[in-house]
Amino acid sequence: MKRILGIGVVALSFAFVSGPAFAADAAGLYKSKCAPCHGAEGASTAMAPAHKGNQFVKASSADQIAAVIKDGREGAAKKYKQYPIGMPAQKTMSDADISALVGYLKELAAK
Ligand code: HEC
Repeated sequence: MKRILGIGVVALSFAFVSGPAFAADAAGLYKSKCAPCHGAEGASTAMAPAHKGNQFVKASSADQIAAVIKDGREGAAKKYKQYPIGMPAQKTMSDADISALVGYLKELAAK
């Protein structure tokens, strides 16, 4: 009986790790998907603007920020001419991941 219970607990905790808890790991997502352009901790690179202290992120609603992540901002929609590339649309990213990232961006922008 104890043994069966033990397996149940292991299975349950695995479900948690691979489920929503993983999807909401905004810092990890940011590091792998955003930091290559926006810099570690959103401190900017030569390719993309900083998220730390970012005015657009501070002033915009969660929906507006989510739209930039989802749809990107390239070509005529680009705002900053000093960066050679645009913001690529994150087409395969889930809504849960995007909203977790929006929360993380708000934290960075407030720094
Ligand atoms: C290939 C490089 C690249 C990657 C990867 C990237 N971005 Fe961007 N991002 C840019 C560039 C360049 C801009 C500026 C576009 C412009 O000129 O308006 C930008 C702009 C933004 C903006 C608007 C900032 C502002 O000041 O208006 C947000 C928000 C943003 N990115 C979030 C993200 C998030 C979140 C990720 C990770 C999922 C990400 N970006 C990944 C290059 C990138």
